[in-house]
Amino acid sequence: MNSRSTRQTVLIIFGTRPEAIKMFPVVHALRADPRFAVKVCISAQHRGMLDQVMEIAGIAADFDLDLMRPDQTLDGLTAALLTGLGQVMDAVSPDWVVVQGDTATAMAGALAAYYRKIRVAHVEAGLRSHNIYHPWPEEVNRKIIGAIAALHCAPTETSAAALRAENVAGEAIHVTGNTVIDALQWVTARIAAEPALAAGLGALEARFAGRRIIGVTSHRRENFGGGLEAIARAIRTIAERPDVALIFPVHPNPNVRRVMEAELAGLDNVALIEPLDYPHFARLLAMSEIMLTDSGGVQEEAPALGKPVLVMRETTERPEGVVAGTARLVGTDPARIVTEIFTLLDDKDAYAAMARAHNPFGDGQAAQRIMELIANAG
Ligand code: UD1
Ligand code: UDP
Repeated sequence: MNSRSTRQTVLIIFGTRPEAIKMFPVVHALRADPRFAVKVCISAQHRGMLDQVMEIAGIAADFDLDLMRPDQTLDGLTAALLTGLGQVMDAVSPDWVVVQGDTATAMAGALAAYYRKIRVAHVEAGLRSHNIYHPWPEEVNRKIIGAIAALHCAPTETSAAALRAENVAGEAIHVTGNTVIDALQWVTARIAAEPALAAGLGALEARFAGRRIIGVTSHRRENFGGGLEAIARAIRTIAERPDVALIFPVHPNPNVRRVMEAELAGLDNVALIEPLDYPHFARLLAMSEIMLTDSGGVQEEAPALGKPVLVMRETTERPEGVVAGTARLVGTDPARIVTEIFTLLDDKDAYAAMARAHNPFGDGQAAQRIMELIANAG
């Protein structure tokens, strides 16, 4: 039998930093298996932050739509995505389209596939906050993908249950673990083999020697217009303590940069730095005593490394970390954020209660499971 004729053509689509991080293990797994002909399409909804991941993961895209525009609007981006991704699908005629998570790229990829009756596999399916404005617009993006997908790769039993509650057919839902754990394990092994990959924070480590490091990230659209200013005020107050230093790789979204630079530039123990590549961010996670974030991915990575993570959101679609006690929702009220940080800094028991390596999100084998599911679905 000619194995070529039985190969499935799989088009893997992503466009932002977190999608690339969570999708590269899937690309690696599918590309290593002769049952698949794999094409990778990047929308480049993100540019620099996406390219950082492509480089470390050693992935060259077959299609690059190069769609990022400064301060892009959701409707302009979505329209361009739908047209561009549809054209790629027409050129490739895949058996499967694979999308990840809940970005504009993932939603438009699923919709363009649906318009062509191409089956969609959804990686990281079933996350729900049950509030369409927190996170915005991701809650609706992932519900749209959930309505379309033929294969739902849920990271946890909680996310699988959310899909069942929406009457998704049980046989289409599979608990695979989250590929972010695959990615974190992969990059940790790469750094162990080649420490120079994550050695670029040396100057900051020297500058902040003896201080307790807090790692910070923030980028959520629903926090624009007040929330980011509140977060910045909290950071200013935390930075009044001489025993801490905050390292904050700032998202390049101009709405984030403007606020953070205006509020925090020039503070002695706050380092506003460019986005770190993935090995260096893994290093920041390792050297931080606490993570303060509104990121989705960081909520998953920090517990895996035993780092308490304070989540600057009102709700989370990742309750597993909160239930396990390694993550806590603190919202964006500055007084609350400061109180929670100070408690962790000053109360050893409170810190110890959160700082347990705990991994409710996966075991590092998610991409292998996803590969087998696609292969077996035929
Ligand atoms: C996007 C996703 C969000 C995800 C986040 C991860 C949507 C609607 N939002 O939000 O779900 O959590 O990515 O970071 O899909 N920019 C650069 N360089 C980059 C990346 C972004 O300059 O490498 C700037 C550009 O000005 C761009 C802006 O950031 O227009 C916003 O990017 P966009 O992808 O629209 O939204 P994010 O807020 O990054
Ligand atoms: N990350 C990174 N460099 C940084 C900040 C974050 O590599 O400077 C990684 C982080 O490890 C996580 C992902 O980016 O895997 C999270 O991306 P982001 O917070 O932008 O998006 P979200 O997860 O909220 O969708």
